[in-house]
Amino acid sequence: MVKVLFVCLGNICRSPLAEGVFRAMVEDAGLGEHFSIDSAGTGSWHIGDPPDSRMIETARKNQIDLTGLRGRQFSRKDYGEFDYILAMDQSNLATITQRAPSTETGSTVALFRTFDPIPGDYAVPDPYYGGPSGFDVVFEIVSRTSARLLHELIELHGLEGSLRDKEQ
Ligand code: 4NP
Repeated sequence: MVKVLFVCLGNICRSPLAEGVFRAMVEDAGLGEHFSIDSAGTGSWHIGDPPDSRMIETARKNQIDLTGLRGRQFSRKDYGEFDYILAMDQSNLATITQRAPSTETGSTVALFRTFDPIPGDYAVPDPYYGGPSGFDVVFEIVSRTSARLLHELIELHGLEGSLRDKEQ
């Protein structure tokens, strides 16, 4: 089982979208049983909240349903529990790193956009205080990066033989 956690600040915009998009791609590839996927925020403001309505709407336009997701806060316990802890921006990464236990946990911590074929500044821009177009930009970045991430993890974990046969 490959365990992946996406982390942003609020867990209501960027990381729930990444969770929903990546899960849809995993399911589409027939790999659902091989992955455990979750998201969290470094902040505590939105614990228990559904994703931002603007993010839900952008996802819905792209056939991704985020309505069942609820915010939770990233915790030190997530280390060791997840194989990959992927931060949406440098600030999230710094907070995650500060909360790391002193002993080695086995979790790989990285910027999500390390996997983006067009990584830019390696940050997924926070759309929370911007206009609606920011949510479409985030969707583009997240879907492009998730596709490459899945491709890399399939190779790294030898899952090619478990892929759904697209010819059928
Ligand atoms: P997110 O966006 O980190 O992509 O979920 C934010 C949502 C809420 C807040 C900040 C960022 N906030 O400060 O409440």
